[in-house]
Amino acid sequence: MAELSNLAPPVERACWHPVARSDALAAAAPVAASLMGEDLALWRDASGAVHAFADHCPHRGARLSMGRVVDDVLECPYHGWRFAGDARCVAIPALPAFTPPEGHRACAYLASEWAGLVWVRLDVAGAIVPPSQASATIAAAETDAQLRKLVVGPYDVAASAPRIVENFLDLSHFGLVHEGWLGDRQHLAMNAYRVETRADGTLCALDCRAWQPQSNRLSSEGSEVAYGYEVPTAPLVPFNAVLTKAPEAMAEHAPGGYRDVIALFVCPLTQETSRVWFRMALTDFESNEDEIAAFQHTIFTQDQPVLESQRPKLLPITDAAPVRELHSAADRMSSAYRRLLRERGITFGVC
Ligand code: FES
Ligand SMILES: [Fe+2]
Repeated sequence: MAELSNLAPPVERACWHPVARSDALAAAAPVAASLMGEDLALWRDASGAVHAFADHCPHRGARLSMGRVVDDVLECPYHGWRFAGDARCVAIPALPAFTPPEGHRACAYLASEWAGLVWVRLDVAGAIVPPSQASATIAAAETDAQLRKLVVGPYDVAASAPRIVENFLDLSHFGLVHEGWLGDRQHLAMNAYRVETRADGTLCALDCRAWQPQSNRLSSEGSEVAYGYEVPTAPLVPFNAVLTKAPEAMAEHAPGGYRDVIALFVCPLTQETSRVWFRMALTDFESNEDEIAAFQHTIFTQDQPVLESQRPKLLPITDAAPVRELHSAADRMSSAYRRLLRERGITFGVC
């Protein structure tokens, strides 16, 4: 079989992708990241702004992420060429009197920070809409003082990004994969939830219900839980999703009731491998960060082996796919998600 190309296709290049936790970027040291086969060097300048360069020095090809940040520029580890935030080479230590010409540049991509993560867009041309415009639900959670925010991850997963999103949108595996936590075998039947696409293109699953023995870190009894899912629209690629869940048994927990708003942010590393973070916004101000992360870790590491077992690793959405997967009415959100990928012209991670 021909080897898969990991070159980023145009649609995916024009979207923002999560590449690292914001708190992984200290002031002095660049951080290596990867996006659709492209190696990146991320760094933070003295003003706090983040930059994303190709992890490749234009002089002799050394990795810029092995360098250091000094005097507000990124210094290559090999001969010390220095690159400013606009990617221009501003100094060559072997020639102190030389002013590098305009064309001496690193390759810079667009970088932004939002929801606790660093986001990168490979296509630097065209109108720039920040990633924060993609989801009103996530934007509202980010500014809601009643919700406590943290990032869990990264997880490196041997599965394609759209397989991971589809798993996140899938309700009918709870009682099997998450038995005793998000479901049990006595409650596998699903209610007739609705799927809608909003005027702005956001795909939603509404009125979902699940019976959960342990819905979140704080829950002390089984409960019916109201669920909703959304797949954000441009300028994000649809490799991200958000769920909102409210356990009925915890309605009295806080004046506004109890809510979890959990965003799944997936970076496609290659066609068949991904890096995953969860942005949690919870009515839980009691647990510490390690306890919340431990709960989410338990849930995701239940999903991960199943995700990594799925074949083909690419999500089959086209007539050219090597297999035709079967669907039931319980899968209408994942079927709608596959349609959305086709409509948006996504070709990375799918077949
Ligand atoms: S390879 Fe980067 S300065 Fe020479
Ligand atoms: Fe799951």
